[in-house]
Amino acid sequence: MGSNQSSYCYHQSNKFQGTSEQLQAIEQIQSEFQITTDHMHAIVDQFIKEMQKGLDHHGATVAMIPSFVSGRPTGEEKGKYLALDLGGTNLRVCQVELLGQGKYHLHQQKYVVSDQLKTGDMRHLCDFIADCVDDFISEHGDPHEKVDMGYTFSFPIWQTSINSGELKQWTKGFACANAVGTDPAVLLQDAFHRKNLLVNIAAIVNDTVGTLMAHAYRHPETTMGVILGTGSNTCYYEDISRITKFEADNNKILSNEMVVNMEWGAFDCERRILPFTMYDNKLNRESVNINEQLFEKMISGMYLAEIARNCMLHWIDRLVLFGGQSSPELNMQWRFETAYMSTIHGDHSPNLTATKHVLEDIMDMPAGSTTLADRQLVQAICIAVGQRSARLAACGLAGIIKHKKMINDDDDDKKNDCLIAIDGSLFEFYPEYEANMMSALVDLFGEKIRHRVRFELSRDGSGLGASVIAMMASKMAKQ
Ligand code: GLC
Repeated sequence: MGSNQSSYCYHQSNKFQGTSEQLQAIEQIQSEFQITTDHMHAIVDQFIKEMQKGLDHHGATVAMIPSFVSGRPTGEEKGKYLALDLGGTNLRVCQVELLGQGKYHLHQQKYVVSDQLKTGDMRHLCDFIADCVDDFISEHGDPHEKVDMGYTFSFPIWQTSINSGELKQWTKGFACANAVGTDPAVLLQDAFHRKNLLVNIAAIVNDTVGTLMAHAYRHPETTMGVILGTGSNTCYYEDISRITKFEADNNKILSNEMVVNMEWGAFDCERRILPFTMYDNKLNRESVNINEQLFEKMISGMYLAEIARNCMLHWIDRLVLFGGQSSPELNMQWRFETAYMSTIHGDHSPNLTATKHVLEDIMDMPAGSTTLADRQLVQAICIAVGQRSARLAACGLAGIIKHKKMINDDDDDKKNDCLIAIDGSLFEFYPEYEANMMSALVDLFGEKIRHRVRFELSRDGSGLGASVIAMMASKMAKQ
């Protein structure tokens, strides 16, 4: 059994007062979503094998994409850049002034990307982005000044240089036509030309790489950039000699290491090792990218609440939850949100009043219809799904730590071998997420890991990070 089995339950301070069937349901849920330490070790071993395949050849499941970002920022970079962020909840346009000494100024504006744009023609999406950039420059910049931009495009692209690549597939609910197989930087640059914008896309950047660079601008020893938000993914510094598939143009490489965008969300699409439940399978079958991004679908914020909703419906249909009653809201795909799970997971009130509010005021269960036992069952589901996510994310990190031999066993006093920059709403807001990841790492490596790994929130990846990379790219282009 996993060492922290009991914490999968509803919060223990609330004594359970439901029926024996409900208690059995809670036990079943705990065991379905539990990942034992042995299972985590097996996942980590498989993860390392997949990393190796991705480093060896093109077309592997875990793509391990060389980002063309080599070398580390010094913090002394200076200059004014634009940055663009596509791939999270909103489109963001930022103007960043790098001031040196790890300091910077950032102005930003958010724009909503409609579902229609996310699934329409790519040209329309690019024209929309160009309009937003135009609007931003008229407000905050000088339309007559030429400016370099770092374009954070958070989808899997095969990079062919620091500012070019080919979109491999869409993820996270985007599905624009005429985009897969093309270069997103070229398409956007064309849209800028159509609008006569003097903006040059100097770098195309994955959000993980932006997060790593943003943190490294202030803390050069940062080793990984992780996103735990709508989607999930990680990048890290790899020795170029170990990226055997990469044909380096040595004149353009400034260092012997390069940041690799892993695209870890695709891990185990072969279904060899991850503990898929029927709730995961249902979510996958009903998603726009069936059988893709299976690891991401068990971890990231876009999917967790849908897994929990599937589980709730299962127990409703067995008449164990809410006396078999549901609501149109609860029946609706994607309607239950991960932010609500956060609230429920973090609800320590004796009567679970915050949970009651979510279920009865937001999810439209009839007022007063949920019992305390119902709410405890719902809480048990949310805790189980949330904890499993953190433990799986920790398995991915453990894979990188082992592959890179980051933890030095001989030197017990050495502190913080591994500084990990993390961005995303799950990490920032989901209750106990960081503690659950750390406790999973302790299960895998022992207590010493607490002094060897440090997680730090890094919010400005797609703004600051993309600008630092745009700066490094324009420096490289001039050399
Ligand atoms: C998805 C994308 C990946 C991105 C991640 C986090 O997994 O494929 O490129 O880094 O989401 O936004």
